[in-house]
Amino acid sequence: MRRLLFGILVVGVFVGSCAGDPPEVPLGPDGEPDPVLADGRAVYAKHCAACHGRSGGGGQGPRLNNGAVVGAYPDIDDQVAVVADGKGTMPSFAERLTDRQIAAVTRYTREVLS
Ligand code: HEC
Repeated sequence: MRRLLFGILVVGVFVGSCAGDPPEVPLGPDGEPDPVLADGRAVYAKHCAACHGRSGGGGQGPRLNNGAVVGAYPDIDDQVAVVADGKGTMPSFAERLTDRQIAAVTRYTREVLS
């Protein structure tokens, strides 16, 4: 019985570390998260995390966090264009997301996943 409980605990910790929501947007000086970044987080959770990982660590798509996108795209507009137009096997999001949502999720990957 104790081994069973231990097994459940181990599986629970493992699943918990893989699943779940993307990192929270830090609170600003007014005690509120930047609303654009909060929108970006919601878009990321729904449309991007499945391929790029919950925290942007990569998966089917490449790593976006730890400075990867800022390094690859010093100009944010170039990164916005990848999300809007798609790249390789990554789908285009121009039809599914508004320009504001694409800008918001791009900022989220640069500033929160960073
Ligand atoms: C179906 C899987 C999939 C989904 C969903 C997806 N991507 Fe991607 N993404 C990829 C793949 C694969 C690449 C690599 C394309 C290549 O270089 O050929 C990529 C590349 C990128 C790149 C360029 C990375 C680089 O280093 O050049 C960015 C930025 C990016 N994705 C952002 C996003 C965002 C933001 C979303 C959600 C709106 C998203 N992706 C959704 C699969 C996906």
